[in-house]
Amino acid sequence: MLGKLNHVAIAVPDIASAAATYKNTLGAAISAETDLPEHGVTTVFVELPNTKIELLQPLGNNSPITRFLEKNSDGGIHHICYEVDDIEVAVNKLTADGARILGEPKIGAHGKPVIFLHPKDFCGTLIELEQV
Ligand code: CO
Repeated sequence: MLGKLNHVAIAVPDIASAAATYKNTLGAAISAETDLPEHGVTTVFVELPNTKIELLQPLGNNSPITRFLEKNSDGGIHHICYEVDDIEVAVNKLTADGARILGEPKIGAHGKPVIFLHPKDFCGTLIELEQV
């Protein structure tokens, strides 16, 4: 079911500072800042030869990453995103296997459908699946 690693997401308290660190200190190519109000985050993508890093900063009052940053004040790895061919097939298989899906499929940062899977069902790691 799983395809490529699409990205690793890092929650940060200050996305401009984090983007500057990746650009200037690590010498990476970075995207512009993009607000995703429906996800409660501002994103910057770091483009690597084989995958991407998604920097996330809270946006608005109900951001899903606010609590994470309260516990990890310097920031930290928040989720990893794997590619799947068909999100509906993935949802049906995961549901049949008893895995917990967090909410309904949404359109993600790349304009494609995404879902999130409960960390307790997957080795303590929040997983995003993105249809490609
Ligand atoms: Co993501």
